[in-house]
Amino acid sequence: MIIIKKAKALSGFLLQRRNNHQLIGFVPTMGALHPGHLALINTSTKTNDLTVCSIFVNPTQFNNSDDFQKYPVTIEKDIKMLEQSGCDVLFLPPVSEIYPMGLTQLENYDLGLLEKILEGKFRPGHFQGVCQVVHRLLEIIKPQFLYLGQKDYQQCLVIKKLLSIRKLNIQIVIVPTVRETDGLAMSSRNKRLTVEAREQATEISKTLLFVKENMKKGETNKLINAATLQLLNKGFKIDYITIASAENLTEVNEWNGKSKIVVLAAAFINGVRLIDNMLIN
Ligand code: PAJ
Repeated sequence: MIIIKKAKALSGFLLQRRNNHQLIGFVPTMGALHPGHLALINTSTKTNDLTVCSIFVNPTQFNNSDDFQKYPVTIEKDIKMLEQSGCDVLFLPPVSEIYPMGLTQLENYDLGLLEKILEGKFRPGHFQGVCQVVHRLLEIIKPQFLYLGQKDYQQCLVIKKLLSIRKLNIQIVIVPTVRETDGLAMSSRNKRLTVEAREQATEISKTLLFVKENMKKGETNKLINAATLQLLNKGFKIDYITIASAENLTEVNEWNGKSKIVVLAAAFINGVRLIDNMLIN
């Protein structure tokens, strides 16, 4: 695996590969890698001649500076994991390579309702930051395939919208959420859980599974109330738990039993914010 830190060096290297008709798959990350990230790398290596992973803790997507300061950095370990996973190129830029014009005059993207609801509502500005960094990375890397995790379901839809408004001809591949054996969705933030909070954290996926298994045609509010109570009883502070259209995330209060829906939750346990979701078909 080669490690490149400069945008120009990376785009020059990839241009040669593209001219040789090589397929390029791209996996953007913020590091502190775990098997969830590696599932994206593995999926990419199966299809592409070249898999590029980026590690960049993007300052513009953190609406909470404490969260940014505390974001785990485990770069030596990350490099070893990427080498073993068959990743070909690691892009490891400093802030100045991603934001050469500085952090003040950043682009704004018209994301419509998507950035006003759920994560967008509780983390104002977050999805603008995600679009700023992903747009820049895509301009540098120009991959044919972009690999994203279902774990961040709304982020997948936001990036899909980014590709459509910027007319970028890139195919998104969404990889299912990788979980710990007790069901907890793997996340870099899990490292911040105390032993006790780690045990309680499993309740998020259990509650989502409860909703998924008990979902029936008709009103959804009783099920959501029961799920809310379940999380509150385990000591969670809930941002949201909701059932929404899998296509555009508008809330579904009455399910017709056919449309694709998704149950999503965001909640704090012991000060650590966790998110998860499950598709219901
Ligand atoms: P990060 O949280 O590092 O996640 C990088 C990618 O890994 C995302 O697509 C995310 O959905 C995926 N991922 C995380 N946990 C996963 C799991 N348990 N199973 C499957 N996939 C998982 O998401 C970001 O970084 C950033 O917002 C980024 C897109 C890199 C822009 O800065």
